[in-house]
Amino acid sequence: MRPKMIVGNWKMNKTISETKAFVKNLRFLEKAAVPREIILGIAPSYLSLETVVNKAKFTRVYAQNVHDLDHGAFTGEVSIPMLKELKINGSLVGHSERRIYDNETSEKCHLKIQALLDHKLEAIYCVGENLADYEAGKSKEVVKQQIVAGLKGLSGPLDLLTIAYEPVWSIGTGVNASKEIAEEMCAFIRNEIKLLTTPSVAENMLILYGGSVKPENIHDYFLGENIDGALVGGASLKLESFEELITNSY
Ligand code: PGA
Repeated sequence: MRPKMIVGNWKMNKTISETKAFVKNLRFLEKAAVPREIILGIAPSYLSLETVVNKAKFTRVYAQNVHDLDHGAFTGEVSIPMLKELKINGSLVGHSERRIYDNETSEKCHLKIQALLDHKLEAIYCVGENLADYEAGKSKEVVKQQIVAGLKGLSGPLDLLTIAYEPVWSIGTGVNASKEIAEEMCAFIRNEIKLLTTPSVAENMLILYGGSVKPENIHDYFLGENIDGALVGGASLKLESFEELITNSY
């Protein structure tokens, strides 16, 4: 049986002092997650990583992006060895906001995922179609391309890889994908992973849904056979709604 996972993606929100105020009560979230056997994660900005790591007892901590090389002349970038010293668990890769605003391609994501696996850190690889592709009935075609380009030929510990299916039209819009769509797409992704790897790798891989997940709808997703949890933006920013998400999930 696969465990369930809820990861809060804080995006470009919370200063260090705002993070300190939040994690003062991190135990409150952990107390909700641990008895439900939910893996809890937070992906704050780089500047807040250390603050969250220092308070985390049962919380995994993720960066929101990494560079694929260990060092070099790449102004403004942060490498995996730098992040590793903070004892974080891994990083998101290929979030749609990075694909849209920073032209991040699935090929680039592939390099980042491989680098994370080489460093024995987790990668949460985000995929999802935009509104035009969804309306044109091309969701599976687009997601398949992202999965194949991002994951084909990876080597190393694939149990460190998690997928987040996040349709772009549902992110931050309040329009969440129905549980039927989310389940169909997560099952499709699992099958694609099986074709690229092995049945047991696919069976054990965690596949999350993300996009306007809220305390009111999380339970529906948790019922999906192929949905192993959620990547949550807006509703993870306030302690109360994050706690409600966890308690409403099961
Ligand atoms: P949202 O963001 O929950 O605010 O829609 C999800 C995400 O971008 O991971």
